[in-house]
Amino acid sequence: MVFYMMNLAKVKESLERLRAEINRHNYFYYVLDNPEISDAEYDALMRGLKQLEAAYPRFVTPDSPTQRVGAVPVEAFGVVEHPLPLLSLGNAFSQEELLGWYSRVSKMAGGRQFNFACEHKIDGLAVVLTYVNGQLTIGATRGDGFRGENITQNLRTIRSVPLSVPGDAPPRFEVRGEVFLPKEGFNKLNRERAEEGLPLFANPRNAAAGSVRQLDPRITAKRPLDIYIYMLGYAEGKATPQTHWETLEYLRSLGFKVSPNNRLLEDIEQVGDFYNTWLERRESLPYEADGIVVKINQLDLHLKLGDVGHEPRWAVAYKFPPIQGTTTLREIKISVGRTGTLNPYAVLEPVSIGGVTIRQAALHNEDDIRRKDIREGDTVIIQRAGEVIPQIIGPVLSKRTGKEKEFSLLKKLYDSDKKRPACPECGSEIVKPEAEVMYYCPNAACPAQVQQRLGHFASRGAMDIRGIGEQMSVLLIERGVVRDFSDLYYLTKEQLTSLERMGDKSAGNIITAIEDSKKRSLGRLIYALGIRHVGAETAEILAKEFFSLKVLTCASKEQLSSIPAIGLKIADSVTAFFKNEENIGVIDRLRKAGVQLEEEIVKPEELPLAGQEFVVTGRLNRFTRQEAEARIKALGGTAKSDITGKTTYLVAGVDPGSKLERAQALGIKQITEDEFRRLLGKTA
Ligand code: IVH
Repeated sequence: MVFYMMNLAKVKESLERLRAEINRHNYFYYVLDNPEISDAEYDALMRGLKQLEAAYPRFVTPDSPTQRVGAVPVEAFGVVEHPLPLLSLGNAFSQEELLGWYSRVSKMAGGRQFNFACEHKIDGLAVVLTYVNGQLTIGATRGDGFRGENITQNLRTIRSVPLSVPGDAPPRFEVRGEVFLPKEGFNKLNRERAEEGLPLFANPRNAAAGSVRQLDPRITAKRPLDIYIYMLGYAEGKATPQTHWETLEYLRSLGFKVSPNNRLLEDIEQVGDFYNTWLERRESLPYEADGIVVKINQLDLHLKLGDVGHEPRWAVAYKFPPIQGTTTLREIKISVGRTGTLNPYAVLEPVSIGGVTIRQAALHNEDDIRRKDIREGDTVIIQRAGEVIPQIIGPVLSKRTGKEKEFSLLKKLYDSDKKRPACPECGSEIVKPEAEVMYYCPNAACPAQVQQRLGHFASRGAMDIRGIGEQMSVLLIERGVVRDFSDLYYLTKEQLTSLERMGDKSAGNIITAIEDSKKRSLGRLIYALGIRHVGAETAEILAKEFFSLKVLTCASKEQLSSIPAIGLKIADSVTAFFKNEENIGVIDRLRKAGVQLEEEIVKPEELPLAGQEFVVTGRLNRFTRQEAEARIKALGGTAKSDITGKTTYLVAGVDPGSKLERAQALGIKQITEDEFRRLLGKTA
């Protein structure tokens, strides 16, 4: 009995230690953007925690890092009454309007001195997080300001939202912030949606709102959402700072993610400088910002100034002008994606918008073009933001002359003999799989596809091979030295130096980069293969489920679709990919070249049975042999079939047979099923 208690205590301690360790790394990674350990080390810790929790489900706590992804879909969003209404911000669209606001508040402040906290106005979705006794209890949308939707399950999936806060935080408090989708995530999401023929999100704000308002939190979990906390709503049971700036610092100390771009400024001239600096540099920001928010720093002045309508007087949004322009849409052309998708894009009359010349814009799919009623020859409104691919907002209808041409993908694709629609790159007859909106070029050897696949394989999120960019991919394929990405691993330095403008040093660097890429994680490798509908997140999920590419190649549709977040469409696409003999050949060549196809399984030493070797013999009452062995493995032990000098325990069931004698002869400790169960720490 004492042993049993000690064992449980040890498990609990291990669980707490693992959780604290993972939470610390989450904080470094998601809040400070400054990870201390590699992704593989982090994954190993998470895997260890999951295994231990699977073996001891009663010790799973709601704030465990494994509990971010809600397992059950939210039936419908409940309503949350906001104890303090969420106001909106008044706007200033010019320097005069900003100065007008400043002079009004200065008068009302009656000679009181004040300074300003300035922040970016991030284009996302306002949310409220309530913490009670250190735990996140409710996460809600703004709604109409008085009543919002309960989206707790979804907000819990955002890694920078703390699930719990330190013990010395106020017993009950509420913080407010902006959930957003960084530009990179937004572009990627829209590209994926275009491939799937889904309607596109017009901007990162809509995409963030659409993501947190998913009925299935697993979908939210797959979107790279982030949050910045920008104010404390209320706090009960503990004194909090007297200024907004110190409050933000305090929230940061509690583990909340507060923007590093916030500034404490002394006068309105400095506010103007802050605005001008970011007006110029807004495009370099990883998120969309449509202005700055100027807040009076002294909280007692907030009370004194009060509200006007639904807007507080103590803050104002000083907006950036939109980066838009108009130009003529010359033609809609079609490019071939790496999975063979035929993607329309707009060729524009070159136009300078915000200092950048725009020649092309994304159009994504035919439905989108129809919905926006965009025609060739139209004058169109273009909007751009940072690295977000320029978008066509829509046509300027008043400029229509009647000569504009409606777009039809099929018509465009009819080849010269006008008999059949063909791939613009290789001339193959195009196909449209049932239940899909996109048309495809079915020819895997289509040069456009091969080149795109190669570029994707080597890209940063995939195998990350420096030096194999778009131009290099084209060159390698044109010269016939590379036919598919496995050929990269057989390239010689001589082959590279024979290409024009390729020196000895650059060639050497590329060879080293290729060599280094052999050790990429399994998730990256699966993503790099370019399987249709398998993005980076899905690839990670597959890697974590299967641990080995070989095992994944044999997975059935049923097995795949039983994994949460893997739907039938993905399951179909994955099995089809591995059924294809050419793909299997490519994987075989990767293996022969020494590319790592297995996930490195690092067993955390914390696991209670680490280093212990078990042999199970005879019939057990409560477990099958496989179940017993699975439990041993889940806790970090090994299960063997033969007794050796290294065996730690022989688990002897009914009719143990000759293994019992051998164990006795070697002096190996034998345990009964009951003792074994105690060792596992489970009574059932
Ligand atoms: S403070 C009393 N700070 O802008 C108003 N809002 O119309 C408190 N927003 O939907 C808002 N960045 O979600 C504040 N740094 C920031 C913000 C910010 C974005 C959003 C907010 C709200 C809208 C205000």
